[in-house]
Amino acid sequence: MSDRLYLDPRASVEDRTSDLLSRMTLPEKVGQMLQLDARQDLAEVVTGRLAGSILHASPARMLEALDLVRRTRLQIPLLTADDCIHGHSFWPGATIFPTQLAMACTWDPGLVESAARAAAVEISATGLHWTFSPVLCIARDLRWGRVNETFGEDPYLIGELAAAMAAGYQGDGPGDPTSVLACAKHFAGYSETQGGRDASEADISRRKLRSWFLPPFERVARAGIRTFMLGYQSMDGVPITANRWLIRDVLKGEWGYTGLLVTDWDNVGRMVWEQALFGTLPEAAAAAISAGNDLIMTTPGFFEAAQEAVAAGLAEESAVDEAVRRILRVKFELGLFEDPRSPDSERQAAVIGSEPHRRINLETARRGLVLLRNDGTLPLDGGLQAGADGRAVSAGPRTVAILGPNADDPHALLGDWAGASGQVDWMPEGHPRGTVQTVLDGFRAVAPEEWTLVHHRGADIGTLAPDPAGPLYPDGQPRPPVFQPVGVDQDLLDAAVAAATTADYVVVVVGDNVSLTGEGCSTATLDLQGAQRELLDAVAATGTPMIVVLVQGKPSTLPASALGAAAIIEAFNPGMRGGQAVAELILGLIEPSGRLPISFARHVGQQPTYYNQVRGQHGDRYADLDQSPLFAFGEGLSYTSVSYDGLSLERTELGVDQTLAVTVRLTNTGARPVRETVQAYVSDLVTSATWAGQELKGFRQVDLAPGETAEVVLEVPVAACSIVTAGGERTVEPGDFEVRVGPSSVAETQLTARFTVSG
Ligand code: NOJ
Repeated sequence: MSDRLYLDPRASVEDRTSDLLSRMTLPEKVGQMLQLDARQDLAEVVTGRLAGSILHASPARMLEALDLVRRTRLQIPLLTADDCIHGHSFWPGATIFPTQLAMACTWDPGLVESAARAAAVEISATGLHWTFSPVLCIARDLRWGRVNETFGEDPYLIGELAAAMAAGYQGDGPGDPTSVLACAKHFAGYSETQGGRDASEADISRRKLRSWFLPPFERVARAGIRTFMLGYQSMDGVPITANRWLIRDVLKGEWGYTGLLVTDWDNVGRMVWEQALFGTLPEAAAAAISAGNDLIMTTPGFFEAAQEAVAAGLAEESAVDEAVRRILRVKFELGLFEDPRSPDSERQAAVIGSEPHRRINLETARRGLVLLRNDGTLPLDGGLQAGADGRAVSAGPRTVAILGPNADDPHALLGDWAGASGQVDWMPEGHPRGTVQTVLDGFRAVAPEEWTLVHHRGADIGTLAPDPAGPLYPDGQPRPPVFQPVGVDQDLLDAAVAAATTADYVVVVVGDNVSLTGEGCSTATLDLQGAQRELLDAVAATGTPMIVVLVQGKPSTLPASALGAAAIIEAFNPGMRGGQAVAELILGLIEPSGRLPISFARHVGQQPTYYNQVRGQHGDRYADLDQSPLFAFGEGLSYTSVSYDGLSLERTELGVDQTLAVTVRLTNTGARPVRETVQAYVSDLVTSATWAGQELKGFRQVDLAPGETAEVVLEVPVAACSIVTAGGERTVEPGDFEVRVGPSSVAETQLTARFTVSG
């Protein structure tokens, strides 16, 4: 038996941590605080800088890193992390689920939890302990490139879905070998960009943070998420990395959070070379340490800088100890000293891309599709039935033209953070082609045998060119190439139009691609890029019933030809099974049930269009345009109609600690089944500080057969009907409230009732 207490698994985590910490030199401690990029010189990372954590390790490099750790003095196991944000993004053939935005359209925390659980089973088999997911940013400006990574615009929905996702990743807790650490990011306010520009200074007060941006984070912190990641932005002059108030007072103080905090990419370096807050790296390192950061992502120079900062008295060694204690605690909790959870090839063969995971993925994709418009053309031919093999049974031969740049583009289905999306270098071709079903593949899989399917791209979106500003950023990171839209290719267009002209139906799959999505890829316009508009116009002019399918990272504005289409389906990036889900929906093999977690704009100049805006402005329109969204938060059609009536409240006078119980009657008045999402919004009628006109406070999904009626009860704790006062306190203000229940956030679709809260 070793005399080193930290190696004794029977000792408590606290005792083991203290023992190990007492044996460490300052370089070893600072090394533990480093999370470095495993694509760099690994020996330098692990044995040179003694990094405590790595990210972006290819399957081969993961094994190399584990081997290198054995050559360090204390052999402290590495904490290994990656961005497995909708499945194990960069493991060839892993199950890639719909993106967060597409998953949010399901409005189903249980389903999101199952998807995260399946992802964790795959991730944990490959030597990874930690995924940088979920994203809890509130997407308010659609120009921002990272809208696809979010659960949309509403703090309550984000909190519900993020808590479910974290629970799915973390499984039965640290002792569960299939558990991976979840990460609430980007803490907090990063998405409140100016002009949609990525990582710009966020114009956001503490009150605004407390009102909308912090609640989802508080929810997951209290629910036991084990890690948090900072954003990139600064607020009120303070870079997030140096924001003691947010990190120490709020996160670790008020919320009592005991997990790990990691910066974002080179945040410490950015305080020098980008935000220009400090002249030297040791000063920036000292600020990061004293603000309460634990792990420092990809600032290799932090190794020397932090040691210099301590030597010069700029940073306290006790603050370094505090961070290292938190890092070691997580490693002991995971049991890594006993079992480093190395890649396990047998488990990989059994679980990666497994059939049960493919099924969960298909179900998530199906439930995430949102039917936005339908003149009755869908489902095609009045709706087909599936035969024994799952393929639709024919109502007679038909020809369907499947057109558009995203109709057969596997990368567009997967979206950002998957395969060839650009973050890693070991999957240049992306996921194996056979693992992804495009919309064309989906039709081939489930359309009736005797239907003829014709495919033409018809148009392209754009190409990439070198950034005129040069190949590298000031910190030496490569500058990604810039997007350039392409014009009409007459041959492509003519072929598509000819196919549309002779088809019975035409499905046009348009949207965007990863060049227009993600970090550093915000867009100035929301219009469909390249020659897509011309394609839609020309196909619409043929008169063949046109179904527009949107495969995109975020809501686009749509041309008149698309808005006049027979039907519009929003798919966002629906994952590996997305193409089959789309085909099934169009053919009527499944019912549409997705609802929008984000509002769509009619024009980019309307930004922002989120539904829960603060009351008070002159008028409600621009001189040249309505302010209403093109499609509103909560909207989504089904293949039937549902009536709402009989709204009643169990009681109308309530105290702050009581729960409002609202009952509403729903009837499926059409001929097909439906999964309806009943939404409850609350409006505080008079508030001491300006406040949102209404806020989502609850929702429930209910299945109704044709003709069926059901009473649905929604419960809203009065404590949730709070505002944040001008002084920054969250409180329920006694007085009159209105509860609004309906199928969306649109006033005309809601039933309302009043209730009063006593003091
Ligand atoms: C930067 C991104 O902002 C963050 O979301 C991601 O987790 C890290 N890079 C690591 O790749």
